[in-house]
Amino acid sequence: MAEIELLKHESRVFSPSTAWAQSANIAGMDAYRALCTRAQDDYTGFWAKLARENVSWQQSFSHVLDESNAPFYRWFEDGTLNASYNCLDRHIENGHGERVAIIFEADDGNVRKVTYRQLHQTVCKLANGLKSVGVKKGDRVIIYMPMGIQGVAAMQACARIGAIHSVVFGGFSAKSLHERIVDTGAVAIITADEQIRGGKTLPLKAIVDEALALPGCDSVQQVIVHKRTGNAISFNPKQDLWMEELITPQSKTCEPEWVSAEHPLFILYTSGSTGKPKGVQHACGGYLLWAMLTMQWTFDIQPAKDVFYCTADIGWITGHTYVAYGPLAMGATQIIFEGVPTYPDAGRFWDIIQKHQVSIFYTAPTAIRALIKASAINDQVHPKQYDLSSLRLLGSVGEPINPEAWMWYYQQVGQQRCPIVDTFWQTETGGHVIAPMPGATSLVPGSCTLPLPGIMTAIVDESGHPVPAGQGGLLVIKRPWPSMIRTIWGDPERFKKSYFPAELGGNVYLAGDGAICDKDSGYYTITGRIDDVLNVSGHRMGTMEIESALVAHPLVAEAAVVGKPDDVTGEAICAFVVLKRNHPTGQEATQIAVELRNWVSKEIGPIAKPKEIRFGDNLPKTRSGKIMRRLLRILSRGEQITQDISTLENPAILEQLKQVA
Ligand code: PRX
Repeated sequence: MAEIELLKHESRVFSPSTAWAQSANIAGMDAYRALCTRAQDDYTGFWAKLARENVSWQQSFSHVLDESNAPFYRWFEDGTLNASYNCLDRHIENGHGERVAIIFEADDGNVRKVTYRQLHQTVCKLANGLKSVGVKKGDRVIIYMPMGIQGVAAMQACARIGAIHSVVFGGFSAKSLHERIVDTGAVAIITADEQIRGGKTLPLKAIVDEALALPGCDSVQQVIVHKRTGNAISFNPKQDLWMEELITPQSKTCEPEWVSAEHPLFILYTSGSTGKPKGVQHACGGYLLWAMLTMQWTFDIQPAKDVFYCTADIGWITGHTYVAYGPLAMGATQIIFEGVPTYPDAGRFWDIIQKHQVSIFYTAPTAIRALIKASAINDQVHPKQYDLSSLRLLGSVGEPINPEAWMWYYQQVGQQRCPIVDTFWQTETGGHVIAPMPGATSLVPGSCTLPLPGIMTAIVDESGHPVPAGQGGLLVIKRPWPSMIRTIWGDPERFKKSYFPAELGGNVYLAGDGAICDKDSGYYTITGRIDDVLNVSGHRMGTMEIESALVAHPLVAEAAVVGKPDDVTGEAICAFVVLKRNHPTGQEATQIAVELRNWVSKEIGPIAKPKEIRFGDNLPKTRSGKIMRRLLRILSRGEQITQDISTLENPAILEQLKQVA
């Protein structure tokens, strides 16, 4: 490891060490500024050059950006490429076939390594297998898999044949899975018999069966099942196929399907402010380009040397860009871990870093906070008990990282040696948009720092006018960029309304977050969502989704959900519930609360379980019938209501809602 020392210039500002500033991919602020200036001066020329240098095109593009149907922007459209070719074949052609692509660590600690050549073979065989059962270019394939080599191979195999994958997180319920099957009109589902997490086996195939038993799944022709545990599962020979049996007879090579850069690569569902999740659609060319650039710029990836470890599940965007595509497109070596950070104990991440000599580690603040707590209780799982000297860079994603967690991460995990890149981005942005470049940007705990080159951010008020620096407002991106969301699958109107609202002029991308830009440094601090979207453990949850799930319960008449600050999960779900009868108290309230929690878990998935449920005979409403969510937020925090409540229809209700069931 190079001797990387971050110098502490003044309290809470950390500048890159000389070593970083000299040898990083983006070395020094001048290099950063030069890129920004190039983007300013010749926007399309800037992107065209990067796209030509980074992506391997089958046929190069002649046109960079088509804005004629804005906001449905099109990038590099007449260029053709294949994402899987870019992630696998070209590394083999460049002589890196024997480099380890994935180090897989199973829940029980068993390790399996696959080289680029081996992964290529698996992907080709699976791609041929998919073709043999009739999956074609443009077809949608649902992937409902555990974390593992096969999950990534399934995504790559779809990309290879031009099928559009939609990965559903293995923690989502049959109902959530069903919703996504119907919305995508999927022709096939790739799943596993079961998954293993924290020493427990959890069903996957059984949940697929449950989803398929619901109406509207006629599009599904085939269910391909990877044998993970080998335990007995129900098997319908008409529809189900073992993945291992499907791929064994297949050829080891599969000519990639060359597709337009605008061909959809995947659809990934995320929560919005209505009850229905949005199918965010990304395009092959621009997405891949940005995955590669951010791997180089933010993570400073050195493919021949680094061991990269992003802890995200492939069911989330982070697991798409920084597990399934980015590291592979760069030809790097990465860790994929099947289990949970607390099994067999809360030292598991540190153990993985030590065992596999991880050099770049990327995780979520919620995990850091949970591990801070665990190591305060049990010194044996404290990072100091492990040799973490292989680390050179740390990253954070998914939610604001509070300065205390940042400092602990910096001191205890990075041993004051590793810069921390706090990366702000979204499912819709495809990759980092505001983030430090570790060889250039000075770090300030709690700030995601500066927009990446080519990302034209601004902060505006509700009518789209820029707000003065230092004042909070809405975060927007003023110019299209290659990895941006293309549309919401099947709902272009919602795409326009959600992301390019007329109130802001219809031509800037509205991120959905509030932010402040510092007067002097230009650094951004994200202040949180401006819509009804919660961020629980770095996972996006729509309040309406949870409310709809609650009111679907036969006992419930009405429900309102708000986020409540939480030490570990960032935000916790707090539900205010009105039953179709008088509000319960005592033991009965506790029992119904347990039932409702389990209900939500079944409707959406365990991640959506409310932490707190409070019952009342009504909800606080204005005279026009609008629920006063602001009051509910105050109640959830246990704070005194000091504001004027004269517009409240039913003030007496507030007393009831103070009680947690
Ligand atoms: O609120 C922001 C928060 O996560 C949201 C995006 O969630 P999702 O699409 O699930 O993607 C998560 C992984 C990229 C954003 O609108 N968020 C993400 N990263 C940060 C963040 N908030 C503050 N700081 C971050 N670094």
